[in-house]
Amino acid sequence: MTKKFIPSYQIGSAGFLFGRKEKEYVAKVLKSHRLSYGPWSQKFEEIFAKEHDSKFAVFSNSGTSALQMALAAMKEKYNWQDGDEVIVPASTFIATSNIVLFNNMKPVFVDVDPRTYNIDPSKIEEAITKKTRAIIPVHLYGLPADMDPIMKISKVYKLRVLEDSCECMFAKYKGRKVGSFGDVGCFSTYIAHFLVTGVGGLATTSDPELATLMRSYMNHGRDSIYLNIDADKGLSSKKLKMVVSKRFSFVRLGHSMRATELEAAIGVAQFEGRHENIKKRKAIAEFYTKHLLDLSNHLQLPIVPKDRDHHFMMYPIVLKNMSKKNLVNYLEEHNIETREMVPLTNQPIYKKIFGNDLESHFPVAEWINKNGFYIGSHPYLKTIEIKYIVDTIHNFFKK
Ligand SMILES: Cc1ncc(COP(=O)(O)O)c(C=O)c1O
Repeated sequence: MTKKFIPSYQIGSAGFLFGRKEKEYVAKVLKSHRLSYGPWSQKFEEIFAKEHDSKFAVFSNSGTSALQMALAAMKEKYNWQDGDEVIVPASTFIATSNIVLFNNMKPVFVDVDPRTYNIDPSKIEEAITKKTRAIIPVHLYGLPADMDPIMKISKVYKLRVLEDSCECMFAKYKGRKVGSFGDVGCFSTYIAHFLVTGVGGLATTSDPELATLMRSYMNHGRDSIYLNIDADKGLSSKKLKMVVSKRFSFVRLGHSMRATELEAAIGVAQFEGRHENIKKRKAIAEFYTKHLLDLSNHLQLPIVPKDRDHHFMMYPIVLKNMSKKNLVNYLEEHNIETREMVPLTNQPIYKKIFGNDLESHFPVAEWINKNGFYIGSHPYLKTIEIKYIVDTIHNFFKK
């Protein structure tokens, strides 16, 4: 048994490996004596938006904040009412549907595809009602959702689309980047995600109105005339008077969701290493698939559909005909960290809100809840560790 714990995330006991650039850029921020929204945040937003085929990116303190302000902005722009419905997958991290509730709207769940684990487009139409306003497809585990049919349905039924891309960055679906299909795409830079800034989130959009609304929502609902501390610099006397008079004007109910220049500087450094990061993740996933293929009677391994990238934020495995419990416990006992595949419909708080039988309405999500788990595919894993993981899984089935 290896003595070292092998985390499924790039953090945990192994620690996060900051490179030279992260340290250098953070040192520059500290030297500049400026922490609030400034050149590093602007740069991070610009390069991130460009890389995701979008005009704007808005950097906030988490992926959840990005989603929360994105839906709030869409609700305001399109004049949606409290109680209007938003379609979300029945298997996703809880933040996706929590933000619908926090916006006083109603999440309507749709089951997921048994092979990709993303929302099943063939089941969306039956969930649409007169009150449906938007769909939130989630690109889980690093794999884009099947966007063509989703966008087609959204056009037919005049629904808006908010992409939850918190588990997917830089990936293409039919040649186009995630985060550029819907009105807004939301990303997380929390520990364990593709780019790690500690905490952080980005919302991409090509709609200037939504970008401004999101900035207002993350800044306490401020008037758009003063959304950052430089907005009063270099103005004519007339304009300056106007800005000064509105610096403390709040026009909607907003939140405090700002990040700082420190996170942005780490983000820029991480962004510069993105190609190497993704390359390593894909290589690790390929290794797992190649060396676990002989267990495919027992294990459903992830697929990579031909029309899209899979960037493997993690490596999901679903046991075909048995519960994951014994295998997961065996791996954990052998110092290999696992995580559940984002179970949602069986969460105590969701049973309380939506009823105890919620899970039974979504059989594929239920199967994943019971039988699915994931292991790490982060770029800090060593060859000896991924070999050990594969050997340990084999040893379990030899028992
Ligand atoms: C699918 C999904 N949505 C939203 C989030 C929330 O991101 P954050 O933790 O940055 O708030 C996560 C985080 O893990 C996620 O996996």
